[in-house]
Amino acid sequence: MNAAFDLVIRNARVATASDCFESDIGIRDGVIQQLGRQLAGGAREIDALGRVVTPGGVDAHCHLDQPMAPPVRMADDFDTGTRAAACGGTTTVIPFAAQVKGQSLRAAVDDYHLRAQGKSHLDHAFHLIVSDPTPDVLARELPALIREGYTSFKIYMTYDDLKLNDGQILDVLEVARRHDAMAMIHAENADCIAWLTRRLEAAGRTAPRFHAHARPMLVEREATHRAIALAELIDVPILVVHVSGREAVEQIRWARSQGLKVFAETCPQYLFLTAEDLGIDDSYKGARCVCSPPPRDKQNQQVIWDGLADGLFTVFSSDHAPFRYDGTEGKKPGGEEVPFQHIPNGIPGIETRLPLLYSEGVLGGRITLQRFVELTATNPAKAYGLHPRKGTIAIGSDADLVIWDEGERTVRNTELHHAVDYTPYEGMGLRAWPGTTLAGGEVVWDGRNFHPRQGKGRYLQRGRPSLLPQAPRSATP
Ligand code: URP
Ligand code: ZN
Ligand code: ZN
Repeated sequence: MNAAFDLVIRNARVATASDCFESDIGIRDGVIQQLGRQLAGGAREIDALGRVVTPGGVDAHCHLDQPMAPPVRMADDFDTGTRAAACGGTTTVIPFAAQVKGQSLRAAVDDYHLRAQGKSHLDHAFHLIVSDPTPDVLARELPALIREGYTSFKIYMTYDDLKLNDGQILDVLEVARRHDAMAMIHAENADCIAWLTRRLEAAGRTAPRFHAHARPMLVEREATHRAIALAELIDVPILVVHVSGREAVEQIRWARSQGLKVFAETCPQYLFLTAEDLGIDDSYKGARCVCSPPPRDKQNQQVIWDGLADGLFTVFSSDHAPFRYDGTEGKKPGGEEVPFQHIPNGIPGIETRLPLLYSEGVLGGRITLQRFVELTATNPAKAYGLHPRKGTIAIGSDADLVIWDEGERTVRNTELHHAVDYTPYEGMGLRAWPGTTLAGGEVVWDGRNFHPRQGKGRYLQRGRPSLLPQAPRSATP
């Protein structure tokens, strides 16, 4: 007799963004078919008695195989990056198809599809990075790509090769408004950073720790305020990415108090690292934690926890930007210990994102289980047009699930699955780790072993971000 389901997860404590309930989960053809007690039999069954089951994580901000200027190269491609993601409970990734200045957006997207094709173990979509908003990009390419399902793009206020000026930002925000896309903004004041960097360099202050001196909180505060003002002018929602501390949070709270639709993202580095991780002396080892904005201090960590708990933050992402410490392609370009401003920015974290937040947030009593699900799965799926296929446990949703194991575990890079030679969280004691990750109903991580499904990860055509206002709004005010 044929089984009713391909797989049944029995006795789960199912957690969604709104509820927690005891249920079996019946899965067929990679999709959740039924929820309820005492479901009919499955060809395979997993007993989850007493264990929490959450939707697979949606990591809506990670960088995989993003083209870099030689000799720098990202350590993770779609194979190793999605392998690591799966072992950490993430089942959908949204990295970036980045436009290089002078390149068409379409060429960037086509190139990025080639990088993912046949490699990804997980379902994936792409944000765009718009670095060259030419008249053709604004009038034709970007609207066409949004219509095709690339319904979000990131813009930068810093980094010489990516940054847009205020006029250019207004131009692209207008496209986001007219065509219903989510604009993600990296908010740091480029001119202040350049000025401070020149001063530090002239004083011989070039060790990794001075990266944090060149990017103090005020450069993030000013740019966050400016991004909000530009969005207000266009009357369009924005999502401020990788918010690091109090002063930026205050700007976002103020914007919300004015009724402005400003969404916000934060990342593990702003909860678990401080500027001291970039070094308390001039050792080069701090290069491992060079990322932008830089981690701040304990007080700022608390502000970020508060924002996670009280609803200020919409999304919790990894901002996984994988560079090896040793060798010639990562933190030491060409094998050299370089001045801080030439250290590739970014840290790995795609595998540790969920275990860190589950351990210290949920089991540490700082956020509810529902809020954990909302921040790590449901809201990212809503913000980027993937909900309800992704980000929830519901009939008709993809069977992307995590069964959690609670118990002591120490983070060791040797046990992680990325291609980076370090983790910033080495030695941290955690209270939980995914015991099983299911992607499309298949066990991809069983708590000990990764089960490859290379090439089975699908490219996801995205819809309109459901966090955007409903009314069609064509004319700019
Ligand atoms: O330092 C960081 N965050 N690197 C990744 C690129 C970005 O700005 O998100
Ligand atoms: Zn950024
Ligand atoms: Zn990033």
